[in-house]
Amino acid sequence: MHTVDLCGQQLPAIGMGSWRLGQGRHARQQEADALRFGLSQGIRVIDTAEMYGEGESETLIGEALRGIREQAWLVSKVYPWNASRGAMQKACEDSLRRLQTEYLDLYLLHWSSEHPLDEIIEGFGWLKAQGKIGAWGVSNFDTRAMQQLWQTPGGDQCAVNQIFYNPAARGVEYSLLPWCEEHGVTLMGYSPLGGHGSELLDDPVVRALADHYQTGSADILLRWAIRQGNMLVIPESGSVEHTAINAAALTGELTDNDLQLLERRFPAPQRETPLEIR
Ligand SMILES: NC(=O)c1ccc[n+]([C@@H]2O[C@H](COP(=O)([O-])OP(=O)(O)OC[C@H]3O[C@@H](n4cnc5c(N)ncnc54)[C@H](OP(=O)(O)O)[C@@H]3O)[C@@H](O)[C@H]2O)c1
Repeated sequence: MHTVDLCGQQLPAIGMGSWRLGQGRHARQQEADALRFGLSQGIRVIDTAEMYGEGESETLIGEALRGIREQAWLVSKVYPWNASRGAMQKACEDSLRRLQTEYLDLYLLHWSSEHPLDEIIEGFGWLKAQGKIGAWGVSNFDTRAMQQLWQTPGGDQCAVNQIFYNPAARGVEYSLLPWCEEHGVTLMGYSPLGGHGSELLDDPVVRALADHYQTGSADILLRWAIRQGNMLVIPESGSVEHTAINAAALTGELTDNDLQLLERRFPAPQRETPLEIR
């Protein structure tokens, strides 16, 4: 199984997202079943945020995990405007209540905040000291933002940077991925299938590889995203059938020839580009 070092633990490199879960996209029971099915297939990381459905996604996950909290490795995110020390404490406690848990394994700053970095780091440190979070990280930070974080006392305790990543969005490979690898920060790739309604699943090269391996296009996109070892990806699905395809990527491989085909179709970046954000 493909794994990634996350906060000193080896975790399966495929997790599950939840941006649009708990908001009526599928039947509620179906979405909870998909999350539980994913866990039964070896997936551990479940990603959510106070933003998702203004807490509805966290509430659904709390229901789905009743009695099996320990099987999941839970990630939530704080709104940038809630990242001051006082507000962060309350935001985290609200997330914990909705998720029906005592602790988050990882708590992320959802995107850059106007609050000073030292105050944000202090807020995370305070939650960690109380046992409410196991580790903290950031999301949507570009290379320059990571460098600034590293220049702030305690900033180098950041465990994760969660960023937009799929074959059609490879800009982060130019400088951010190498920087994070060098500094021991694990990457968490979001929208690995291109996002809700993306055409990536219908791309002819991806489809041809999926046909060859008798699997779904999503499996190929996920095998590609986790090919190098420092990237954990969090596809979202409210369907058991789709979750089965996504979980299959945990044990799938791509040959050098497959990778060359994908490289020609989706070339690596040749220069620095602004960080893409969803
Ligand atoms: N940090 C951030 O700023 C940020 C931003 C965006 C997203 N995220 C996180 O990343 C997660 C994933 O990103 P995303 O939701 O934007 O996009 P995504 O995972 O790339 O795509 C989700 C879409 O793909 C479909 N899908 C899933 N598995 C499939 C399969 N095997 N075959 C066909 N279709 C499949 C889903 O529909 P079904 O439900 O029908 O399967 C859904 O419409 C989010 O849920 C969220 O947790 C974080």
